[in-house]
Amino acid sequence: ASRSFSRLSSQSDRPSFGIAFDIDGVVLLGHIPVGGSPRALRRLYDDSGELKIPFVFLTNGGGFSESKRAQDLGQLLGVDILPSQVILGHTPFKQLVNRFEDKLVVAVGKGEPAAVMSEYDIWTTSLGLQINVLSIDEYTSYFDAIDPLATYKRWTTKTDIDQNITSNETAKRKIAVQTERVQAAFVVGDSVDWSRDIQVLCDILRTGGLPGKETGNQPHLFFANDDLEYQATFPAERLGMGAFRIALEAIYNRIHPIPLAYTSYRKPNPFVYGNAETVNLDVENTTNSGIRCFKTLYMIGDNPKIDIRGAQQAGDPWFSILTRTGVFKGKDNHSEFPADLVVDTVEDAVDFILRKEC
Ligand code: G3P
Ligand code: MG
Repeated sequence: ASRSFSRLSSQSDRPSFGIAFDIDGVVLLGHIPVGGSPRALRRLYDDSGELKIPFVFLTNGGGFSESKRAQDLGQLLGVDILPSQVILGHTPFKQLVNRFEDKLVVAVGKGEPAAVMSEYDIWTTSLGLQINVLSIDEYTSYFDAIDPLATYKRWTTKTDIDQNITSNETAKRKIAVQTERVQAAFVVGDSVDWSRDIQVLCDILRTGGLPGKETGNQPHLFFANDDLEYQATFPAERLGMGAFRIALEAIYNRIHPIPLAYTSYRKPNPFVYGNAETVNLDVENTTNSGIRCFKTLYMIGDNPKIDIRGAQQAGDPWFSILTRTGVFKGKDNHSEFPADLVVDTVEDAVDFILRKEC
């Protein structure tokens, strides 16, 4: 994390404020920059491209590693972004992997969910232990007929199975996976195939991690976020991971006597705001005695119930700015979760901050 601001050499060069940008609906719509975001971000660097103002992306989205996302964002927005400046929905899973060393876990969602979890496992791997993580695509492939609708689905799923391994090895692996208890499921990104994922997750969760076999305690279930809706390229909001969670939970609670237990750490959980502050923004801005010296941390978001509510609950030193480029499209402030400031675009927000602070 400290690399982000290493160029802000002396204490006096370091601004007493930092910015956390939400991504979907503030900086991007799908893969398209919105609200003048490339111009706004460029203002946070000096003429030679050196970072002037500490900032992070604080998004509930995910599916790829922080380093890959940093690279993609850099290309889309035309600035140099470091992995330590990207805090994704699943970034807190990093703290959880060592609980599952040498255990089988399943990773769900678009993108590269298993690769994300394996990357978080570097620390435990160095101790000779390793989390055994399979994407739900690969896990499903070891169970014949687990998804009765599979033959009607006209897409193919990438299973990450090495095509070069012999059928003998495949058969052995199949038995090994089928007989090993899944200890946890991590929903890393939005589910691509709700029907298959709800079916297979119910199988895993209701049996204690052994689909089609005995019953046991529900394995752990973690969600990268609980967003009901988010803004992408389509004019109306899209159903998010929170909608998938509601569907899974409603079905699970009808087929199983004990209600579904799950955890989600992301915005609006105030923990996230504390984390952004300590893990990233705060590192280079801590005095020798360890006292934080950021006077203000700005959260620029588009979702009142998520971004603004979270910043409000986190309290000092957070200042919330709501844009109109995403989920929120109102004229005035949001009635239930009013922001400290409402602007049209992220460019307006950055303009306000720089005028106030510089
Ligand atoms: O899937 C992403 C969405 O739930 C929210 O992303 O960037 O608005 O926090 P963001
Ligand atoms: Mg958003």
